[in-house]
Amino acid sequence: MLKHHSALGLANALRPVQPVTIIRPHAARRAARFFVEKFQGRSIYAVKANPSPELITLLWESGITHFDVASIAEVRLVSRLLPDATLCFMHPVKAEEAIEEAYFTHGVRIFSLDTIEELEKILRATKNASDLTLCVRLRVSSDHSKLSLASKFGAAPHEAKELLFAARQAADALGICFHVGSQAMSPAAYVQALSHVRAAIVDAAVTVDVIDVGGGFPSIYPGMEPPPMEAYFKAIHEAFENLPVSYSAELWAEPGRALSAEYASLLVRVEKRRGDQLYINDGAYGALFDAAHVGWRFPVSLVRGEESDAKDMAFSFYGPTCDDMDHMAGPFMLPADTRPGDYIEIGMLGAYGCAMRTGFNGFTAGETAMLDDEPMASIYLSEDEDAAVSSNVITL
Ligand SMILES: Cc1ncc(COP(=O)(O)O)c(C=O)c1O
Repeated sequence: MLKHHSALGLANALRPVQPVTIIRPHAARRAARFFVEKFQGRSIYAVKANPSPELITLLWESGITHFDVASIAEVRLVSRLLPDATLCFMHPVKAEEAIEEAYFTHGVRIFSLDTIEELEKILRATKNASDLTLCVRLRVSSDHSKLSLASKFGAAPHEAKELLFAARQAADALGICFHVGSQAMSPAAYVQALSHVRAAIVDAAVTVDVIDVGGGFPSIYPGMEPPPMEAYFKAIHEAFENLPVSYSAELWAEPGRALSAEYASLLVRVEKRRGDQLYINDGAYGALFDAAHVGWRFPVSLVRGEESDAKDMAFSFYGPTCDDMDHMAGPFMLPADTRPGDYIEIGMLGAYGCAMRTGFNGFTAGETAMLDDEPMASIYLSEDEDAAVSSNVITL
């Protein structure tokens, strides 16, 4: 793999024609150590955010021992890479064959569900196993989050009692899980969700062994500066301590974005400029799905040898395919003299960026390069440390 000290060094050495995936393993290691050391519970990596084998392995080496898998392909991937890892199959709607293979071939014992039908499916597929940890997913609000996960999954309050009761009968350990939506901008999201958990436990009068607060832990993007991660951990821990759960109950979380966003970015080339529109060589069908479809603003930085003294202006991007929808509105702030042939680093694409890539129209990523400088932003560096790397922190 190519190794460089900066995106500029990489661009100068390679003059890449295809987009280059940049990885910063030290950033993912720092994120994992942060969760392992400071979250007062178990941190389970949500593989869907970025299933790169290198990332999964380095998270394991940094102390992440549990992985949230959503499909049988993710189950197979992680059990092949890390036979000793614990897998949690947390998709509430699974194929029966997937449950069967996960249980009997890969030793998965932890499953989530949000209906009686899914519970029956799990019991059928595992031949009424008696060693299951069953996590009932409750529907909670996504009001504090940038990406809602409030519609598709989760038992509504009036369904929770019957489901918790039935799962308690079938489970060796009973859990309650939820997802506050991705990129939760306030710890209040978890406090509010945990108050619903409390009401559900009281209503069902069951003993609960696991509280799983799901994902939603934020990263830093332009226009999205969340409070420090410690504030989330503290609020969750305090709310957990006040729940009517068994004395030995465990607290779990399933961070995806927070463990992977800083790990990867992208070096793209400008192929054409039309006014304030830059035609670049990656887009909506590549790593920029969220930039196109949910208007996510990733940080950008012009990667050019000589400093530009032009003021920043707002650009939008077109991706390389022939599709009008291959458009990222931004705004992306770059020097006004940005021109064809320039390279741009688009940051914080480790989560739901590189993982979304397709080969549509024949456009796909080129090489991967490892850099040892800092990502464009880090929620794991103090303000002082952030200032020290500010030469690399652009257009937030
Ligand atoms: C069940 C589950 N857990 C965890 C995650 C990870 O969420 P995030 O990336 O917001 O931390 C997701 C994301 O969709 C999810 O569906």
